[in-house]
Amino acid sequence: MNKKLKTAYVCGSCGQDYSKWHGKCESCGVWDSITEIKIAKSSSSKTAVLRGCSQPAALSSCAASDAIRTISKFNDVDRVLGGGLVGGGFVLLAGDPGIGKSTLLLQLMAQWGESGAKVLYVSGEESAEQIMMRAGRIGVETAPLDVLTETDIEHLLAVFSNSKPQIIVIDSIQTMFSSSLESAPGSVSQIRECAAMLLRYAKTENVSVLLIGHVTKEGGIAGPRVLEHMVDTVLQFEGDGRLNYRILRSIKNRFGPAGEIALLTMTDSGLAQTKNASEFFLMNRESPQTGTSIAALLEGTRVLVVELQALVTRSHFGLPQRVASGINPKKLSLLLAVIEKYGGISMGDHDVFFNIAGGLSVSEPAADLAIAAALFSSFRNKPLRKNLAFIGELGLGGEIRPVNNMTARLKELSGLGFKECVLPQPPKSADWGKQNYGIHLVPCSRVNDIQGILF
Ligand code: TYD
Ligand code: MG
Repeated sequence: MNKKLKTAYVCGSCGQDYSKWHGKCESCGVWDSITEIKIAKSSSSKTAVLRGCSQPAALSSCAASDAIRTISKFNDVDRVLGGGLVGGGFVLLAGDPGIGKSTLLLQLMAQWGESGAKVLYVSGEESAEQIMMRAGRIGVETAPLDVLTETDIEHLLAVFSNSKPQIIVIDSIQTMFSSSLESAPGSVSQIRECAAMLLRYAKTENVSVLLIGHVTKEGGIAGPRVLEHMVDTVLQFEGDGRLNYRILRSIKNRFGPAGEIALLTMTDSGLAQTKNASEFFLMNRESPQTGTSIAALLEGTRVLVVELQALVTRSHFGLPQRVASGINPKKLSLLLAVIEKYGGISMGDHDVFFNIAGGLSVSEPAADLAIAAALFSSFRNKPLRKNLAFIGELGLGGEIRPVNNMTARLKELSGLGFKECVLPQPPKSADWGKQNYGIHLVPCSRVNDIQGILF
C-alpha cells in the first residue's frame, strides 16, 4: 500500500467520519453507507505551507476588506447567491442530470466575463466542441470566456496558478481525480480530496470556485454529503424535466439568507428569468375550478402565490386512497383528521388526491388553510369564489394560527388582483392587521368558520 495514504471510513449519506467500519451510520442512521476511503497524508502539511503562517489579528481589523461581489444579468440569481458571487466563495450547484446546470453556469460565466472578470470553465464531461455548441445555442460564443477540458486536479491547479482566473467553474466535481489517490474518479475519497484541494486554492488565492455536483437517485448530492459541509454556498437546481421552469434554491449560504429561490425558464436559447413568478403558478384565475384554492406562500424572502388542487371522490375500496404530490402525504392525513374532528366533515370513505399546479413542492405550514379550502370545495363539489386567497396554519385543535410575514404576502396578493383573503385573527400586537392593502381581510379563528364563507 502507498505509504502516503491514510485509511478513513466515511458515511456516503451524511459525510460523518469513522476510524473503523460500522454497519450503520450513528450520525444519520443509514445502513451500509460507510465506505473505506484513502486520504493523501501529505495534504495537511501542504496546507500549512500554502497558507503561510497565519497570525492572529484583531477582528475589527479584518472587517475592512469587504467581499467583492460580481453580479450577473439575472438579478434573481444574484439574490440567491446573497447579492452576487463573492470573491473567494466556494459554491456547489447540485441537481439532477439534464436539468440545466451546465447551461446555467455557462450563461452566468459569459455574463461575469462580460462584466470584466477573468473566467475559466473547466469541463470533465464534455469536449470543447460540445461546450461551443451549447454556447452557440445560448448565444454567448463571442463572450470573453476560457474553456478547458481536463480532469486531473493537479494539472488544473497548475493551470490556475499560471493563468490566474478569478472565477472557475468545475463541471463536474465527480469527474475530477487526484493522482495521489488510488480510487476511481467519482468515489467518495476522490471527490473529497479534489474538493479540498480546490477549496484551499479558492481561499488562499481569493478565487471564486463553483462546483457542479450530480444528485444521486436518493436525492442526495452524489456520494458524499461531505461537500455540503465544505462549501460556503449550496445551490439546488430543481424542476420537473418535462416542464420548462426551473427553481434555483439556496440550501446553505454563508454570504446571505438561505432558502432564497430564483425562478427560471428553460427556453430554446438557454435559461431566462421568469418575470412574474406567481402568475406562472396560477392557471384558472378567471373561472375557478372545483377543488382548487389559492395560497400565498413564502419561499426565502419572496412570496409565491400558488394554486392548490384537491380531488375528493367516493372510494370503491375498503381502504381509501390518500395520494399527495407537492406536500408531505402525512400532512394531508393530518389535515383530513383535523377537518373531520373540527370541520364536521368525514372523508373516511372517500379517496383524496392532492396536487400543486406546476409541479411545485411546498412545506410551509401557511398552506394549511388553503389545503383545507381545496378539500372542502372538492367535497362539496362547488368552486370557491373568484379572487379569494388563503393564508394560515391549522393547529391540531382546529384553530387557525398566525404565520409570519403577513404584510409581504398580502401585498403580493393585492398586486396580483386578489380581492379577499381568509387569514388568522391578527394578534393585538401585530400591525399588519391595521394596514390597508386594497384587499378585503376575512379573519377566522377556527377551521369550521371558513366553511360558511367559501362559496
Ligand atoms: P444541461 O445544461 O446539459 O444539463 P446538466 O448539465 O444539468 O446535465 O442541459 C440539458 C438540457 O437542457 C437538455 O435536455 C437540453 C436543454 N436545453 C434547452 O432546452 N435549451 C438550451 O438552450 C440548452 C442549452 C439546453
Ligand atoms: Mg452538464
